[in-house]
Amino acid sequence: MKNKFIVVEGLENAGKTTACNIIIDILNKYGIKREKILLTREPGGTPIAESLRTIITNQKQQEHITKITELLVIYAARAQLLDNVIKPALKCGKWVISDRHNLSSHAYQGGGRQLNSDLIDELSYIVLGDFYPDITFYLDITPDICLQRLKIQGNLDRIEQESLDFFERTRNFYLKKIQQNDNIIFIDATQSLDRVVQNLKKYLLNWLKNQ
Ligand SMILES: Nc1ncnc2c1ncn2[C@@H]1O[C@H](COP(=O)(O)OP(=O)(O)OP(=O)(O)O)[C@@H](O)[C@H]1O
Ligand SMILES: [Mg+2]
Repeated sequence: MKNKFIVVEGLENAGKTTACNIIIDILNKYGIKREKILLTREPGGTPIAESLRTIITNQKQQEHITKITELLVIYAARAQLLDNVIKPALKCGKWVISDRHNLSSHAYQGGGRQLNSDLIDELSYIVLGDFYPDITFYLDITPDICLQRLKIQGNLDRIEQESLDFFERTRNFYLKKIQQNDNIIFIDATQSLDRVVQNLKKYLLNWLKNQ
């Protein structure tokens, strides 16, 4: 089977990092060795992209970050990650698992920040061209649960401090995009972690069998 690019998406604390690690376990059991799998995250995943991430997440910025700056910084980080890490890894036969990818920009900057969708489409095309994940798992939680889990976590970053409305708009955008794309698998992440893991396994194994 050819190596694949798998993405996990969702709101803050939806369980994305947990899901990425579960996917790696499932792939291992499916016979794909750990050294053949690269785990990365967005924004970030390269030294430069990780420093760009701190601009996005740092809650104590010296000045207001405009919506456009936020968008451009995220795409700059994505360009670094794509050309320096993801594409080379795929080229040498590795499976790539990414904790967030381009769909996050549509949801957060298009939905949450209400930036023009055409602008995001254009930037997507400039940075990614026709490069898409083979499959995306979207972990759906309600904004209420998102804020509840953030409260437990404490010490919130700049994006995590956003309002219920912001997360409502972001989630609605995710849900809209999912309806338009067959390669995005919806997983109800309001259920117990055990159920989420079961569903993830079911969908991933079924998909792998058909590759
Ligand atoms: N289905 C679930 N039910 C209850 N708690 C969960 C569930 N999934 C994840 N959690 C808990 O929520 C927290 C966040 O999980 P995780 O770090 O995987 O989410 P994340 O989406 O990667 O978060 P972040 O946006 O901060 O990166 C963890 O404490 C985890 O144990
Ligand atoms: Mg995480």
